[in-house]
Amino acid sequence: MFRNTLKKDQLRIPRHIAIIMDGNGRWAKKRLMPRSYGHQNGFNRMIGLLEHAFEMGVEYVTVYALSTENLKRPQEELEGLYNIVRKHFTEYMKKFGEKGVRVRAIGDITLLPQDVQDLIQKAEADTAHHTGKGLNIALCYGARAEIVRAVNQAVKEGKEVTEESFSRLLYTAEVPEPDLLIRTGKELRLSNFLLYQSAYTEFYFSDKMFPEFSNKDLERAIADFSTRTRRFGKTDEQLSN
Ligand code: IPE
Ligand code: IPE
Ligand code: MG
Repeated sequence: MFRNTLKKDQLRIPRHIAIIMDGNGRWAKKRLMPRSYGHQNGFNRMIGLLEHAFEMGVEYVTVYALSTENLKRPQEELEGLYNIVRKHFTEYMKKFGEKGVRVRAIGDITLLPQDVQDLIQKAEADTAHHTGKGLNIALCYGARAEIVRAVNQAVKEGKEVTEESFSRLLYTAEVPEPDLLIRTGKELRLSNFLLYQSAYTEFYFSDKMFPEFSNKDLERAIADFSTRTRRFGKTDEQLSN
């Protein structure tokens, strides 16, 4: 068990975890099922992981649900994803809202069908007053598009930016940078996720496909994170002073 492998006082709970939820399609294919079955199981697993993460004391979770580039996928697959939002999103976001979680979408959600946008905006508005915990859902999100959008905003305002003021122009303006980024699905890449924000994030890659990434796997990732030394450019000696 998690608590046996690492003593409680050695455990450092990341304040913000970002997750690239990859591998739904391959998970379904292996079971001779359509990709949409993988996405449905991925959604269910996401809910379980989010509940577990918040229970463990994580304050912010950012999940990569749909990239700008994913919009080039077959319409049928995209419709399947939108249908999951239509059927289940409101119910679960209400549950998170009751636990004090603020729901935010990051990305250009205007690229989604209007009714899906409405559901997302309602969840954001209903939870906007919460300050403790945050769930950021990256939808139609691409980090390059996010950065270019921020640059254009700065140009429009006609002001030079600093690192701080620039980060406030990103979708993640009010959210601290991720401490731990987990990618499931065996790939070792960022796929255009949080390029600016993850400058000093710790990475954890899992060979498991997202629908089979268990709560225990999350605990393993956090235990691994707890063993990392985050130097932020400094030396070990400087850190111990
Ligand atoms: C990630 O799983 C979810 C989305 C991109 C929507 P994939 O659909 O990319 O699954 P694989 O990588 O094809 O297995
Ligand atoms: C990244 O997965 C996007 C999400 C998990 C939403 P992809 O499946 O789109 O990544 P690539 O195409 O393999 O890099
Ligand atoms: Mg994939």
